[in-house]
Amino acid sequence: MSGPESSAPAAARPAVGADPAPLVDLGNLRVTFRLPDRDVPAVRGVSLTVAEGEAVGILGESGSGKSVTGRTLLGLLRTPPAHIEVDHLRFRGEDMTAAMTGPNFSAQATKRFAMIFQNPFTALNPVFRIGTTLCEVLVKRRGMSRADARRAAVELLDAVRISDARNRLRSYPHEFSGGMQQRIMIALALALEPEVLIADEPTTALDVTVQARILDLLREIQRERRMGMIFISHDLDVVSEVTSRVYVMYAGRIVETGPVDSLSRQPRHPYTRGLWASAPRLDRYKTRLPAIPGNPPAPGQAPPGCAFHPRCRLATDICATERPEPRAVAEEALVACHHADKAAA
Ligand SMILES: Nc1ncnc2c1ncn2[C@@H]1O[C@H](COP(=O)(O)OP(=O)(O)O)[C@@H](O)[C@H]1O
Ligand code: SF4
Ligand SMILES: [Mg+2]
Repeated sequence: MSGPESSAPAAARPAVGADPAPLVDLGNLRVTFRLPDRDVPAVRGVSLTVAEGEAVGILGESGSGKSVTGRTLLGLLRTPPAHIEVDHLRFRGEDMTAAMTGPNFSAQATKRFAMIFQNPFTALNPVFRIGTTLCEVLVKRRGMSRADARRAAVELLDAVRISDARNRLRSYPHEFSGGMQQRIMIALALALEPEVLIADEPTTALDVTVQARILDLLREIQRERRMGMIFISHDLDVVSEVTSRVYVMYAGRIVETGPVDSLSRQPRHPYTRGLWASAPRLDRYKTRLPAIPGNPPAPGQAPPGCAFHPRCRLATDICATERPEPRAVAEEALVACHHADKAAA
């Protein structure tokens, strides 16, 4: 058990939301890019779990290590320059720790994970019709015959609510709007029958109305298929639309995690509070407020102690010298802050 009553020290607890065999159980991921002139420690200790059928969010400002975390899970990083270390990766209890740092991880990872990205247009090959691209994936990756692939491609476009699917398969990417292209990217991801979909800022490039429709679609599909989902975003409002639990990342580490409802109602980490206050919510503010002063540190330049301390209004001496360990503050909620109680007050 990992409830607050557990006597295990906070740092040794499994990540919040863990059950006996979560779909994904990632422990203490570290990723450093070893460049000729310097090391870039992009991810400095990320632990997370995704339960069967659960959608979790990774939230944080640009540069906090969200995409690198997602890409590592999918085996997309070139090693070198990336150097990956991890305490454990388990998929439904199966130990994949050694595989994760080995040379052929992407072949194993892509059987379980699929990813959609921020900009669908750059991910779609402009010279091929949508049907060709979809069928290619179904034939090569799922071993289907051409005829079966054609039928499955129609079903996939139906699944992402693209009408007149049979005809639309003959269209080229540029004949679709940005929102429709993102639907196609979702169809391509679903073609792989992933057990976990990693969505990396999938609506950031879209206008607000289209964004809302894509979020609805993702939520519906994730629930219908009982897929796991890791939804990456810099926007707490967007994350709370789609996920039930959120990991907040800062400078390569998770600084707070908890159920999305309580996290939006009562964020405890000063950084999460700043993100929440600066979200442009129409019911509260007309424009984005500069709630967090300054910028996040570049990787490799994070200050000692709590990496957030130069920007934190609650910082005291201890914050500049001692890194706060994550500790349980409520059921399923961890916060890495020396003064989380003051922040929540
Ligand atoms: N291939 C790479 N080589 C060197 N540095 C990288 C590489 N990919 C990402 N980084 C650095 O790692 C840090 C985290 O990046 P990223 O995960 O993309 O941030 P986020 O998605 O949270 O905006 C950034 O400072 C970025 O510049
Ligand atoms: S540990 Fe200190 S500097 Fe870091 S968030 Fe908490 S109060 Fe702010
Ligand atoms: Mg990113």
